[in-house]
Amino acid sequence: MKEQLEQIRRNAMEKLAVSHTLASLEELRLQFLGKKGEVTAVLKQMGKLSAEERPVMGQLANQVRADIEKLLEERRSALEAEALERKLEAEAVDVTIPGDSVSFGHQHPMNQVLEEIKNIFIGMGYQIVDGPEVELADYNFTRLNIEEGHPSRDRSDTFYFDDEDSILLRTQTSPMQIRVMEHAKPPICILAPGRVYRKDEADATHSPMFHQIEGLVVDEHITMGDLKGALVMLMKRLYGEDAQMRFRPHHFPFTEPSCEMDMQCHKCHGTGQVDGQVCSTCHGEGWIELLGAGMVHPKVLEGCGIDPAKYSGFAFGMGLERTAMGRMRINDLRLIFDNDIRFLNQF
Ligand code: DAH
Repeated sequence: MKEQLEQIRRNAMEKLAVSHTLASLEELRLQFLGKKGEVTAVLKQMGKLSAEERPVMGQLANQVRADIEKLLEERRSALEAEALERKLEAEAVDVTIPGDSVSFGHQHPMNQVLEEIKNIFIGMGYQIVDGPEVELADYNFTRLNIEEGHPSRDRSDTFYFDDEDSILLRTQTSPMQIRVMEHAKPPICILAPGRVYRKDEADATHSPMFHQIEGLVVDEHITMGDLKGALVMLMKRLYGEDAQMRFRPHHFPFTEPSCEMDMQCHKCHGTGQVDGQVCSTCHGEGWIELLGAGMVHPKVLEGCGIDPAKYSGFAFGMGLERTAMGRMRINDLRLIFDNDIRFLNQF
């Protein structure tokens, strides 16, 4: 029996020494120490031994069991350490590799210009107001003195929602004049920026969706001089003291008298030509139309319950994209809507 136990020990030691996986270690544990294992089998035969031999063999068997357990434990921790080592190696982080840089976004150039314009007008005492893009034809046209049959009401120009042509995507921010005047009493001094929609083909200076900024000032003794003063101030603050602009007489149904204001084309500096070619930004005009304006029509004031004999007002509506084009020296309006990151990153 002694010989048998020694043999089991040698056998176990040899096999454990060359066992390279945790699974095979477990197999060997069962083979030697399990319930049906070899050491257990020897112990079961103890009953056959004499009273003198039994404690000696018992001690030896326990020693063999302990030796095998010890080696099993050593091999297991060695294998686990190896596995951990391999895992760490595989997952190693090379701290010398340059990291992924986090790039910061920024405000869209058009919104940068909008912020600038808002701040200029806030500095002149204007309040910023907001209104619906889905608008009633009544506010968008009728109450602005734009009668039935006026070309701007045509279905080829305006996005309508219904067959009666009574609900539409606002084609201008001017309905905000009505929305403000029907509730507020003078003095009124507001700025209403927002999206407007027209059935326009996109080109260098047109887009079916664009932004306007409406301004309205109503009080006693307001004159065309106040209008011009506000707009010249805006242009100088936006483009510098030597900003070039011009006012032209025009017609709008909701102002009388009316005018338009142009700024000098930033690309051709008013010459209409670039490298001997017609300037593509202003189509050779030398000027870019920025806004319509005028003195609020007495009919419009009256329709909102404001007495035109006592009060007068001026209004203007400017194109934000066109203003941004000049401010940021952008030559094609479509670039503003493309959202090409290479373009946006320049601002
Ligand atoms: N709403 C006009 C347009 O879209 C622009 C305009 C003209 C606005 C005269 C005004 C104004 O407030 O007084 O063409």
